[in-house]
Amino acid sequence: MADKGETSMELYLDTADLAEIRRLYELYPLDGVTTNPGILARTGGDPVKALRGIRDIIGPDALMFAQVIPSDAEGMVRDARAILKLLGDNTVVKVPAVPEGFRAIRLLSKQGVRTCGTVVYAPMQGFMAAKAGAEYVAPYVNRIDNLGYDGVGVSTQLHDMIAAHHLPAKVLAASFRNTQQVQDLCRHGIAAATCAPAVLEGLVKNPAVDGAVRDFADAFAGLAGEENGMAELVG
Ligand code: E4P
Repeated sequence: MADKGETSMELYLDTADLAEIRRLYELYPLDGVTTNPGILARTGGDPVKALRGIRDIIGPDALMFAQVIPSDAEGMVRDARAILKLLGDNTVVKVPAVPEGFRAIRLLSKQGVRTCGTVVYAPMQGFMAAKAGAEYVAPYVNRIDNLGYDGVGVSTQLHDMIAAHHLPAKVLAASFRNTQQVQDLCRHGIAAATCAPAVLEGLVKNPAVDGAVRDFADAFAGLAGEENGMAELVG
């Protein structure tokens, strides 16, 4: 569990849809945006333009995650440099948590580059990325569930293993499909979570709440007239 004094769970938006980022970034207390090659492909268009567009919306201080493409460590390091050149400071380079990736993470962390070991399906795989020097490790909760294993369980085990060995890495849980998965991990004190727009909105979507808010507005309209809030009444 999270110790007292730790910061609250970081929350990221997992999309490259610029209109959705613009809309949701205004509303929710978000810490940044995560992407992967699949997300960029789903959005379509020029990936460089899309990544630059995200940075423009969220500003230079928010954290942005972008993934390397090559499968060899040297290529990953080259891609990491290009990603940093494109997106500037406050960028975390996502590197698949595979053997070549562990090497790339080690090389990059020696150079002071912030990395996230991604595509994590098992606790020891994430642990290895953390030991190599990754700042974040990203277990894919729903994809693990879809294999018949326990995505929340893998993430909490990884969280506990990192804490038990005093590694500085943080678990960035990813690939969610429902509120329960996010809520279970939030309760466990997971360091960070990234949600697609529909999952993020689903965290607070509730027709009973909408009805209650509408009832308050109707009650007050009966008292003070339509369109009148406290600002209009007090002046
Ligand atoms: C994080 O950015 C991960 O790459 C992402 O959550 C994976 O999600 P998916 O399972 O929907 O592809």
